[in-house]
This record gives sequence, C-alpha cells and structure tokens, in this order.
Amino acid sequence: MIFCVAIDGPAAAGKGTISKAVAAYFGFAHLDTGLLYRAVGKRVLDGLDPVAAARTLTAQDLEAGDLRTSAVAQAASKVAVIAEVRAALVTFQREFARREGGAVLDGRDIGTVICPDADAKLFVTASAETRAARRFKELSGKGQPDTYDQVLADVKARDARDAGRAEAPMVAAEDAALLDTSTLSIEEAVAQAIAIVEKSRSSAL
Ligand code: DC
Repeated sequence: MIFCVAIDGPAAAGKGTISKAVAAYFGFAHLDTGLLYRAVGKRVLDGLDPVAAARTLTAQDLEAGDLRTSAVAQAASKVAVIAEVRAALVTFQREFARREGGAVLDGRDIGTVICPDADAKLFVTASAETRAARRFKELSGKGQPDTYDQVLADVKARDARDAGRAEAPMVAAEDAALLDTSTLSIEEAVAQAIAIVEKSRSSAL
C-alpha cells in the first residue's frame, strides 16, 4: 500500500507534532524534511559549501545533536533558497514518499513540489505570536538563551524568507486542507488532522 500524506506550514505551527501523531495513528513512516535542510545548514555553519553539503549529506549528519537551535534554523532557511540545494534533496524525499506502507512528510513544499499528487494534504498554520510563544517555551526548556522578542523576530524572518523565495516557496497547495492551530490544543489539532487524512483514506480505498 502506497499512501502519501503531505503536511506543510510555517515554523512552529505544530507540523512536527501533528505529523508524528498522524504517522503513529496510521502506522506510516514519517520524514521531517526540515531536518534535511537543518543538517545542510549545520554543515554550512561548519564551513562547507552549501551545494556540496547537500550533495554529500549522510544519515549521520541528520543525527547531529544540535540541529534544533535558532542559529541552525536560520542557516537552514538560507540554504533552502538555493535551487541546487533543493534539487539535491528531491530524490530522497520522493523515494521516502513512495515507500510501501505509507508515509507522512512534513515541510514547506511537500504538497506543491515534492508530492503534488499526495493522497492527503494539510497546511498547518498559527499566528506568528502563537508560534513564537511555543518555540520560546521549547527553547527555554532546553536552556537556550533566546528572548521571546528574538524568537518572534526569527520566526518572522524565516516566514518571509521561506514564503518569498523563488524556488519552491512555502505556500498552501490549492487542494490542501487548512488547519489553523492558534486556538487548538495539541490533542484537538491532532484529532482534526487525523480526521482529514481518514477522509482521504476512505475515499482512496
Ligand atoms: O521545518 P523546520 O523549521 O525544521 O525547517 C527549517 C528550514 O528548512 C525552514 O525555515 C525552511 C527549510 N525547509 C524548506 O525549505 N523546505 C522544506 N520542505 C522543509 C524545510
């Protein structure tokens, strides 16, 4: 059985949590595609050329412990603008999407570029302030020193870069279901996402 769920949206809207929960519920594999860009961004911070870093990315690079910092997130958003970097990561993502047993991919361009024929598409959003508050809580929990205002500025800068780039900009696919998590609990957001995927699954059966 091949079934691809594409989940896109801006930073800290809840994509990661929702994607993991949807994958667990349906027994699908999950790929956080942001991690690929973060791993490339990290290698660039370590001194590599972005295109070379993307072309020689290994599974080990994805396991680097410090990919969740603000500095790596900004570096990821910057390398993600480069067409050759994106091109180097396409095949891996498309093969993952077609794996037997079903797959959930989350990112910015899954429903538009990576899997335009995905069986279910969601675009998960929330206000910049809500997202910054969530990310601030997460980063402070890890002892990272960013202030709320810094996190909000980072979120807005990333939104602008991710949505404004020429290559595969972050945008909801025309046929994506919109899920605004601003006023939803995690449980409510997950339940709504599962219901959306379930609907596509029963029409695909
Ligand atoms: O989802 P994330 O915050 O971990 O993503 C980090 C950056 O990677 C994001 O700001 C833009 C880029 N990205 C992308 O361009 N396309 C994707 N499919 C996933 C992430």
